Amino acid sequence: MLCVRAPGRVNLIGEHTDYNDGYVLPVAISLETRVYAQPRTDALCQVYSETLDEQHTLNLAELPPPEQLPEGFIRYVAGVAAMVQRHTGRTLTGVDATLCSRLPLGAGLSSSAALEAAFAVLWDAIDDLRLDRLTLARLCQQAEHQYAGVRCGLMDQAASLLCQAGHALFLDTRTQATQQVPIPSAWAIVVADTGKPRALAESDYNLRRAQCEQAVGALQDVLGESVVALRDVSAEAGAQYLPLVEEPARRRARHVVGENARVLAFLDALRRADTAQVRALMLASHASLRDDYEVSCAELDRMVEACLQAGAIGARMTGAGFGGACVALVERARLERFLQDAERFYRARAAYEPRFYACEAVDGAGMCAG
Ligand code: GLA
Repeated sequence: MLCVRAPGRVNLIGEHTDYNDGYVLPVAISLETRVYAQPRTDALCQVYSETLDEQHTLNLAELPPPEQLPEGFIRYVAGVAAMVQRHTGRTLTGVDATLCSRLPLGAGLSSSAALEAAFAVLWDAIDDLRLDRLTLARLCQQAEHQYAGVRCGLMDQAASLLCQAGHALFLDTRTQATQQVPIPSAWAIVVADTGKPRALAESDYNLRRAQCEQAVGALQDVLGESVVALRDVSAEAGAQYLPLVEEPARRRARHVVGENARVLAFLDALRRADTAQVRALMLASHASLRDDYEVSCAELDRMVEACLQAGAIGARMTGAGFGGACVALVERARLERFLQDAERFYRARAAYEPRFYACEAVDGAGMCAG
């Protein structure tokens, strides 16, 4: 029996920048999906999800297009198989697989990317494909585009596959260059799930992406073709030319331009363990996501307030938004007290059932030890 583990992620900063050729800084967290699998001698792939108590079967030799598959986890598995098969020109080996996940679904912690990463690593091992991690991440991203209909960036899949324990992953999504950035050992990463399920996430996500593309089109009219993506707009150029872009694309673009600059400043602050700067940047990121990108919600705003009131170094919403979770950085020495206080403060402000997870920064997906 083979076992693969693949972690979820929180993003410390750099939200909605990855499909604008920008920068991100996610961390793989100790909330994981596991796949237990037995290779078969044919091309059938039978997957049972323990979490959902649901079983589906795919024939890898004749994979149906996404619209012929039921919605849900099997689309991601089929998507990964389809993309890996297209890339390698091979039919993958069938498996009998069981999925177990400690990752809350719909909390914005990339449970779908973890599922994709787990199957990508599994088939890479079973079929001895020897694909590098970045290639696997790109194939998983394609799976998400084509089989789940979400035009996501590369962040979640890269985090689940490329992170290293104790580090955040700095990814330049244009060059796809990465750097492992140590997280100060005195800091704990807390995931604060608001309990508010993400609503309308897919359509709103794709709409935000289209609005960014619209802003790029408008900026090209003034600045020329050298603006390929919002990544190419400096803070100064943004201040000068964004007023020419129509709303709401103008505010969407202002968020992305500012957020890219914040990621670079955050990297520097993290290296110096500069708590004041980390706090200021996380708060500025959250405010920009709330006011300019409009992907926050009352519960995420209240959770950020609760975390700050409970003494976090910094806190902000993480992931796509529209519900889901916040990330907070907390002095380890104050962790116990923080968890109690933040929960109390949030409950006093919101009707949803929160969940707090103190997470370690773990390695990206791999075969389980032993
Ligand atoms: C989702 C997407 C990512 C990224 C974030 C927002 O998690 O899958 O690619 O765009 O939203 O930063």
